[in-house]
Amino acid sequence: MKMIRSLIAGVGAYLPERVVTNHELEQRVDTSDQWIIERSGIRQRHIADDRQLTSDLAIAAARKALAAAGLSGDDLDLIVLATATPDNTFPSTATRVQAALGMTRGAAFDLQAVCSGFIYALSVADNFIKTGQARCALVIGAETFSRILDWTDRTTCVLFGDGAGAVVLRAEEGRGEVSDRGILSTHIHSDGRYYDLLKVDGGPSSGKQVGHLRMEGREVFRHAVVNLAEVVGEVLSTNGLSAQDIDWVVPHQANKRIIDGTARKLRLSSERVVVTVERHANTSAASVPLALAEAVGDGRIKPGQLVVLEAMGGGFTWGAALVRM
Ligand code: ACO
Repeated sequence: MKMIRSLIAGVGAYLPERVVTNHELEQRVDTSDQWIIERSGIRQRHIADDRQLTSDLAIAAARKALAAAGLSGDDLDLIVLATATPDNTFPSTATRVQAALGMTRGAAFDLQAVCSGFIYALSVADNFIKTGQARCALVIGAETFSRILDWTDRTTCVLFGDGAGAVVLRAEEGRGEVSDRGILSTHIHSDGRYYDLLKVDGGPSSGKQVGHLRMEGREVFRHAVVNLAEVVGEVLSTNGLSAQDIDWVVPHQANKRIIDGTARKLRLSSERVVVTVERHANTSAASVPLALAEAVGDGRIKPGQLVVLEAMGGGFTWGAALVRM
């Protein structure tokens, strides 16, 4: 039987130049560097220039991922761009990225699952490849959350940042057996009963323009640790693995305490968890590919290693993927 698997051919990331430290935020709202570090682990975040749109960040990350794969826009037949902060209501930000990369065939579309967006997009692209509908896909997580923050609300504005990350997936085909590398499984979930716990209070259909991020932080925290531990457990049981078999976990970078709590629940050593939250803050859909690109780039994650990617976000949505690099 013919089998197709999605191989990760290249990863890339982009962070805006401007860095905003916790000390700078102390000038804007009633907060402190110490409070932010103790409660979230965050020390700084990157914030996009006024003229930089989500598509600009996405294009920069995509170019790096394509270069790492030794491919160009011409080679792509699918772009799935995860974002909750598109340039415009429509058309999709993905079509702007498509044009910038010189890709004129195939399809490009946006996907919205907030902080879980990259895992959702990876799952969708992987299924397109496995069913033979795409051969070479670009999966991007890109956000400018700075545009939807209420900069007077200390309970949310200190937690987020801007950025983009991307991976190129290439189909590898074989008869019976395929390589043991690539995406081995993806797992996505949502539960809309929690819609109101993390949301933006505006948008095209609800009347108000755009709106701002609102969050019941404690409730989100509680669900995050439970859901993330569960979905990583699902990855392990589906693939007949134990936590000890995993070389690296690349978690969504929302809060250092959520990352540590999840690792503890799974009895995973913190040395095998990639953490960037202290420098990037929560970049929503961009956080997992940004962390992945960093750990691949500095040589921590090596070819052949088993990596779990996981994320949770508004909706609630959550998910995970198992990849052999
Ligand atoms: N600076 C100083 N004090 C603050 C700040 C701030 N920036 N923000 C809140 N406080 C105050 C609160 O007003 C409260 O004061 P009070 O006791 O006088 O009322 C006190 O600090 C404690 O507030 P809590 O909300 O109970 O603090 P908590 O320990 O829960 O930490 C946090 C808050 C960091 C938001 C935490 O709940 C969290 O990380 N939740 C997860 C949310 C998250 O990461 N969401 C991202 C999107 S979803 C996802 O990606 C998983």
